[in-house]
Amino acid sequence: MTYTIPVELTSSPKPKPAHHNQAFGTVFTDHMFILDYDAEQGWHDPRIVPYQPIQLDPAAKVFHYGQTVFEGLKAYLTEDRRILMFRPNKNIERLNLSNRRLSIPDLDEELVLEALKQIVLVDRDWIPSEPGTSLYIRPFVIATEPVLGVAPSLQYKFMIILSVVGSYYAEGINPVGIYVEPKYVRAVVGGVGNAKTAGNYAAGLKAQDEATAKGYSQVLWLDGVHRKYIEEVGSMNVFFKLGDTVVTPALNGSILDGVTRSSVIQLLQHWGIPVEERAISIDEIIEAHRSGTLVEAFGTGTAAVISPIGSLEWQDEKLVIGQGVTGELSSRVYDAITGIQRGILEDPFGWVI
Ligand code: COI
Repeated sequence: MTYTIPVELTSSPKPKPAHHNQAFGTVFTDHMFILDYDAEQGWHDPRIVPYQPIQLDPAAKVFHYGQTVFEGLKAYLTEDRRILMFRPNKNIERLNLSNRRLSIPDLDEELVLEALKQIVLVDRDWIPSEPGTSLYIRPFVIATEPVLGVAPSLQYKFMIILSVVGSYYAEGINPVGIYVEPKYVRAVVGGVGNAKTAGNYAAGLKAQDEATAKGYSQVLWLDGVHRKYIEEVGSMNVFFKLGDTVVTPALNGSILDGVTRSSVIQLLQHWGIPVEERAISIDEIIEAHRSGTLVEAFGTGTAAVISPIGSLEWQDEKLVIGQGVTGELSSRVYDAITGIQRGILEDPFGWVI
């Protein structure tokens, strides 16, 4: 099926940023994509319009019950001026998995891909090309029905906005200090931890705030039942290099199935590095540190790609990992993934389109 997406171009284009040191997600392009849903017509009326505020009824369900999901992916401009998107189909698939968990009607995956391509094309002059920069694409769905009864909304908007971004962390890929969170949990199995929904991020803010006040960059989340097994780091998936093997928590239902996570696993396997997806307890990591087998640790996510972990604080003990400097594997993985994303390195996996 081919889709015609009408485009209304802005009559007042904004100035483009002169540099990319701005904070993540603060600069938006000139246009946005919108698609509406109601119970009679289903998803309808796709369109690209000038970037602008939207009007919602104060009773819209998203404001009260958080019925909303989002995605995050990136587009890059290559040296020969091709536009590449990294694994958009993985994000589109996950968008519908999140939709199902939040009782939001499925989106047509072909239409979403077409919308991603069209909106990026319309705003192609905004795609930065310097190393470390990209066009961050934020698709999201909100429940708009103005009814306070607790039931799935009968009206929604699916939108795509675009933001010009530099490095997620102002410091670039430098090791961060992490506080192993003993009090708060991010998600539990059976909840919504594996859906990309706003509530998971809202639920993490308090722990993040307290960790920041103690001088840490992020928290390491433990599972909500045993308070023992490692789940995620901040809003990223997490990997540890133990001896020659790389381990990452298995997707147990409360962990987000990250696109960068899956790419790192595939890459490590491609390089012949043993990688295990399994339960990892904090005690195992402490023990590995004591015995000298904890070589590296890093977070993975679309926004930062790789974020090396320089230290972990757990029960008043500070574990410095790899002398606190970026490890060899973290750098290798970062260079390989960003190289493929930017079209500089060959893409043996068919990741970029
Ligand atoms: C990512 O690592 O891409 C995230 O999930 C963070 C994002 C919500 C800004």
